[in-house]
Amino acid sequence: MPFTRMDQSTAAEWMNIGREVAKRQAQMPALIKSMLRQLEEQVDGFATNQLVHALQTATRAVRDGASEELIVAALCHDIGKVISVVNHPAIAAEMLKPYVSRETYEVIRTHQDFQGRHYYALMGMNPNAREQYTHEPWYALAEKFTDEWDQASFDPNYDTLPLEYFEPMVDRVFGKSLIRLSDEATATA
Ligand SMILES: [Fe+2]
Repeated sequence: MPFTRMDQSTAAEWMNIGREVAKRQAQMPALIKSMLRQLEEQVDGFATNQLVHALQTATRAVRDGASEELIVAALCHDIGKVISVVNHPAIAAEMLKPYVSRETYEVIRTHQDFQGRHYYALMGMNPNAREQYTHEPWYALAEKFTDEWDQASFDPNYDTLPLEYFEPMVDRVFGKSLIRLSDEATATA
């Protein structure tokens, strides 16, 4: 039987746990696709459901020549809404973080502040919330993501690519070995 208290654990037990976690982590692409499908039931007063919005945002990224990781990030940018609308950008960003570049992570983490330009004034909130990031190297990318892809993607008549189109990309981006990723993180730390 494995340890019942961490202070009685052995190195061999931790090696085994590491192998088991890596096996389960390999199922992450399937988990992501399952969460994306859950967005289909969320409409909340918009002209499209949240799955169509996600697909349309990613479709615009494809047609703008974005990198694969940015396309997948566009697809997943609102995936946190499955759990909570209020803090959804942080949820999505932290899910993506081990698999994407720093700038892609930041674009997703802050996307609500950038979106504010297009509707915060209607709610008495500051539409210029994005200005706190003006000096960030990813600012221009965040503007493109928000202004050209995300905020424009509630159109039921747009020629939106289906989830099947993006599935191989989800498999590649979320299928990366986290062991390799942690090695890279150590190497670049
Ligand atoms: Fe969005």
